[in-house]
Order: sequence, then structure tokens, then C-alpha cells
Amino acid sequence: MTKHPFSPQSLLAQGGTHSDNKNGVIIPPVYTSTTYLRDEDNQYRTGRVYSRADNPTYRPAEKLLAELENAADARLFASGMAAATTVFQALKPGDSVIAPKVMYWALRKWLQTFGVDSGLDVRFVDTSNLDELRHAISEKAPTLIWLETPGNPLWTVTDIAAVADMARNCGALLAVDSTVATPLLTKPLDLGADVVMHSATKYLNGHSDVISGALAAREDNDFWKRLVAIRAQYGAVPGP
Ligand SMILES: Cc1ncc(COP(=O)(O)O)c(C=O)c1O
Repeated sequence: MTKHPFSPQSLLAQGGTHSDNKNGVIIPPVYTSTTYLRDEDNQYRTGRVYSRADNPTYRPAEKLLAELENAADARLFASGMAAATTVFQALKPGDSVIAPKVMYWALRKWLQTFGVDSGLDVRFVDTSNLDELRHAISEKAPTLIWLETPGNPLWTVTDIAAVADMARNCGALLAVDSTVATPLLTKPLDLGADVVMHSATKYLNGHSDVISGALAAREDNDFWKRLVAIRAQYGAVPGP
């Protein structure tokens, strides 16, 4: 018989914590370790070195989110802002970004200040208006198009599949803040996005008691590896 994908048994097995589950617990364990044992020859064959980079506590939620988003992989972050800014930090000076006119205010402010200071060329466009977006792309091909749909606070909706076509045609990456929709209502990767972002502080957690963020990617490619490396090197992890 197939196990239900969200049964405690499946979640624990997906998290790789099943072998720890000698006590039959329902909630996956919290690992408070900051560092990990070395092998006798000084290697780390478990793949874990230091909890600024990774901690097994995150894996059950990351694997579940990857499954919900039909993603190759997912990572949790210290906040939604930590997840979103990681995507922009992965770009290089001179890269061009198109972001929505209506979007979460703090990320818009970050783009106008730190994003611009780091050399990004940032343009805010009404992404829900495909003609306006097409015109902006024709003026200068962006490196990355960022969507937020529905957008906070006006719940402005953008056609992700149509923008994914435009992004593909001009060689841009497409990232979508899907905080408001959640993977239950929208799967941006299935619609052609490269990366999906969540403020997990909101509906993914749902209890107003955790600050967290998440990224999930359609492909485990160089860009994804760069995002994972930024999380590790800036320490943008949630903590156990
Ligand atoms: C759509 C959206 N994106 C990003 C964020 C930022 O997330 P966090 O508060 O977890 O940093 C928020 C927070 O309200 C949001 O509503």
C-alpha cells in the first residue's frame, strides 16, 4: 500500500530522520548541534560540517516544500527577506532586474537601496500589464525578472506562464514570490519560473510564531548552487 505523502511516517522518511525515530515520535527532532563529527581521516562524509551552512532539522520541511512545488530542491532561510535578497545577491554588478511596481514594501526598499548600491540596474514595471512588461524588456533585456503574485498589498495578479515565455525569449531568469498564493493554489515552477520564494512567516507556517523564508528551484543548476552557497556563507539559515 502506498503511504500518504504527508503521513508522519512519510515525512520522517523524507527527512532522512526515520532511522532516528526509535521512539516513534510524530514531530521530527530538533538538532541543536552547531558542528559535526569528522571522520578519522578528517573528512565529513555525512556532508554536514557546520550549522551556518546546513542542519538536519531543516530537511523534512525542505523536502516537503520541494515536493509541493515540484522543485528539484528547496532551502529554508532565516526570513522571507533573507530568501529574497539571496536571489539578488547571486546577481553581478551591472545585471538588470525588472520587479513589480506593486510588491512587498521592504523588498522594494532593499532593491532601491542595497540592490542599487551593489550595482544592480533595477526597474519597477507593472508586471500585471504584459504590454508594459514587453516594452521594458525590449528597451533592455533583463538578467532577472522578479514577480510577486498576488502582490502585497493590492493582490495584483500577474500571468506567470506568459512572463515565463518572455523571460525564456530574452534569456532572463524568472523568480516568483508566491507567499500569498502558497503551493496549494499556484505552482510557479510548473508555469515556467526558475525559482520560487516564500515568506514562510506567513501561510506556510500559519501560526504567527516563526520568522522564516524559503527558496525552491526547478533545476539543481549552477544558479541554485550559488543560492545555496550564499545561504551558507552569509549564514542566512533559520537556526534549529
Ligand atoms: C509577499 C511578501 N514577501 C516577502 C515578505 C518578507 O518576509 P519576512 O517578513 O518573512 O522577511 C513578506 C512579509 O510580509 C510578504 O508579505
